[in-house]
Amino acid sequence: MANTYKIAVLPGDGIGPDVIEQGIKTLNAISEKFGHKFEYNYGLIGGAAIDETGVPLPDETLELAKSSDAVFLGAVGDWKYDTLDPAIRPEKALLGIRKALGLFANLRPAVMYDELVSSSTLKEEFVKGVDIMIVRELTGDVYFGEPKGIEERNGQKVGFNNMIYQEYEVERIAKIAFEIAMKRNKKLCSVDKANVLDVSRLWREVVIRVSKDYPEVELSHMYVDNAAMQLIRNPKQFDVMVTGNIFGDILSDEASMLIGSLGMLASASLTDKGPAMYEPSHGSAPDLKGQDKVNPIATIMSVAMMLKYSFNLDKEADVVEKAVKEVLKSGYRTFDIMSEGQTLIGTSEMGNLIAKKIL
Ligand code: IPM
Ligand code: MG
Repeated sequence: MANTYKIAVLPGDGIGPDVIEQGIKTLNAISEKFGHKFEYNYGLIGGAAIDETGVPLPDETLELAKSSDAVFLGAVGDWKYDTLDPAIRPEKALLGIRKALGLFANLRPAVMYDELVSSSTLKEEFVKGVDIMIVRELTGDVYFGEPKGIEERNGQKVGFNNMIYQEYEVERIAKIAFEIAMKRNKKLCSVDKANVLDVSRLWREVVIRVSKDYPEVELSHMYVDNAAMQLIRNPKQFDVMVTGNIFGDILSDEASMLIGSLGMLASASLTDKGPAMYEPSHGSAPDLKGQDKVNPIATIMSVAMMLKYSFNLDKEADVVEKAVKEVLKSGYRTFDIMSEGQTLIGTSEMGNLIAKKIL
């Protein structure tokens, strides 16, 4: 009998629902072609949850996520919540679900498709063939470190956060990065700021220690400011990069520009226990909400990652990836990757074309 995979679907805010819908089309096409059964259970998150329940991450949503085989998330956030108490901002839900599910390993593959070389703002010779896997630690660092807050000291307001990593946190993300490097080109660059930050000195020490178990992997270290520069100067020097939460947040947005658009950057957030989560790396873009304009490919490629990492359906993941490439090869583009001579289409049409190619 065919397996049934239970998926918690959390569309969230802004364009979240628009792109999630295209991801569901992709899953339905895979289901039709290969006979797998996907059960979709929808839940509230972010602003959508605040509107209905008063909190960004209701217990019900967390329970739903925990009892699923995978979580499929759109995006959270809308300017209309900017004035809320920071404790109930939509972004809290994203950080909260990452923490609650222990999703410490965020994989963001920046792959340049040949068809999109002309969409990059960078010269073809530098971006053609770029294929970087960014491994971002996701549940530690300045995002979660205590103490944090804004308080008054000597008549002045002071804002503070704490950049902190425990040994085990660095060790487990380093292991994941080395494992991924072993399956790729055995090259890993660890990014830190060890010339200034104590937390980075520990990071580097632990990464070096873990590297002893992976003698075949060529390990390098780079300071984050230099890494930001090198990504633009010569991106093809990188294969797998591993870094902390905040550096990874920034470098992955930067890397998305190498491959043409943030609308192309998928992501998987993995754990060593329980369900993993899949979401596009982009935000909720509330100004584009419901306009059938944005690029659903990051979301569709996140579905491919779900098939591969959560369900071990490698062949099916390849089929999704191929379908995306073929639709791009046929010249169809959403506005963010549009270039001369191509055909401009909307979110829904892109989803339909990719689903059709799968079948
Ligand atoms: C991301 C986003 C989030 C982050 C925000 C929305 C909290 O930028 O997933 O990269 O900073 O991690
Ligand atoms: Mg980000």
